[in-house]
Amino acid sequence: MPNIQTKNLPYRVLPLSKNGYTFHYIAQGSKSDEKLVFTTFEDKKFFLKIIERSDDFLIKHDKLTRVAPIYIIKNALKAFQELHALKLTFSNIESKKEASHLEKSDDYLKPITYFANEFQTDKEIWVEVGFGSGRHLLHQAAAHPEIQFIGLEIHGPSIEQVTKQCKIQNLENLLIAAFDARIFLEFLPSNAVGKIFVHFPVPWDKKPHRRVISTAFIDESTRVLKKEGTLELRTDSENYYAYTYETFISLTQADLHIRKNREIAISSKYEDRWKKQEKNIYDITLTNHTLSDKKKAFEKLTFQKPLSFAAFKEKFSPYVFKGDDFFVHFERVYQIDENSGVVKLSFGAFEKCEHKYLIFNDNKIQYFPYEALPIEQNLKSHQKIEEFLYE
Ligand SMILES: C[S@@+](CC[C@H](N)C(=O)[O-])C[C@H]1O[C@@H](n2cnc3c(N)ncnc32)[C@H](O)[C@@H]1O
Repeated sequence: MPNIQTKNLPYRVLPLSKNGYTFHYIAQGSKSDEKLVFTTFEDKKFFLKIIERSDDFLIKHDKLTRVAPIYIIKNALKAFQELHALKLTFSNIESKKEASHLEKSDDYLKPITYFANEFQTDKEIWVEVGFGSGRHLLHQAAAHPEIQFIGLEIHGPSIEQVTKQCKIQNLENLLIAAFDARIFLEFLPSNAVGKIFVHFPVPWDKKPHRRVISTAFIDESTRVLKKEGTLELRTDSENYYAYTYETFISLTQADLHIRKNREIAISSKYEDRWKKQEKNIYDITLTNHTLSDKKKAFEKLTFQKPLSFAAFKEKFSPYVFKGDDFFVHFERVYQIDENSGVVKLSFGAFEKCEHKYLIFNDNKIQYFPYEALPIEQNLKSHQKIEEFLYE
């Protein structure tokens, strides 16, 4: 993780700009030694985080608002260092000149708001969940130019590696979302997807509730799948295979196809590893035969009524509300000045919650880094947050 460390940090009055980066303000954490620096670069907005330790300062990116590719974060840290003339005791931000393919990675790597609000295609869609090194996804996209592919992954280095390959191979039918697959399908239209690949998912033997395959995931899969579309699990884990079989067979109707040690055109990194160890590989494919209703238009989760940051601070105390299938947790407050501030909170469904900030500015409140996604448990949480803010 890119970071710099220094013994002295002479704060300067913001905003200040350097090398295309603008540092707008610093928000000071209450009861903590943590500060957030609101930073912009082109259309990217994110926080850098300053942690005051016993004998030095650690400056790094803030995980919740992390942007890609990573060179943007490294260059932001470098610009911050230069503006404050910091003498560093540690740095891992020096990198070779970034190759030009990364500059265009935005063509492939789309934010979740793009899928929620703008994404459209006339092509059939195929989705790969957790593409890892991307061998299977890239192979499929090159072999099927008539299909629109969407790759889902949460591991930063894999995302960077695959977006780089997309650019090198000049693929025109592949988009990447750095997003949890357990939520992503909610943003796709009904009856639009031909195939969903889940190849060698993390088995989570000790925490099965974290697995991608679940009843909720299958429900969303069958909604987005076209008639005769397939959800395909491929795994070396007998446990995961058995669990998936049980989850599929518990549906009221299921058309399942099971194969053992099937050869496919392209072998992933994981598959190669398991083959070397002579492990069995299981395929279990669910075919959808239903036509689903159109999805309702999304409701935007925004705050319409004004509220001052001072009024919020008066009522703030770390607050947790637990509903039947959702929660809201106000975690921490950061002060920018008398009238503005930042609040860190988490909310939504228990197993796939949202971590966000609320930015209070000019009596207006906004979610940051982007609006709360309009899924059911978030709608309930948003209502609860409004109750807390306005009542
Ligand atoms: C064991 S690797 C397999 C990668 C690849 N499919 C292969 O066969 O080589 C599992 C991948 O799934 C990703 N992953 C895990 N949970 C995920 C989730 N909820 N949404 C998207 N990707 C996820 C992990 O980051 C990891 O890269």
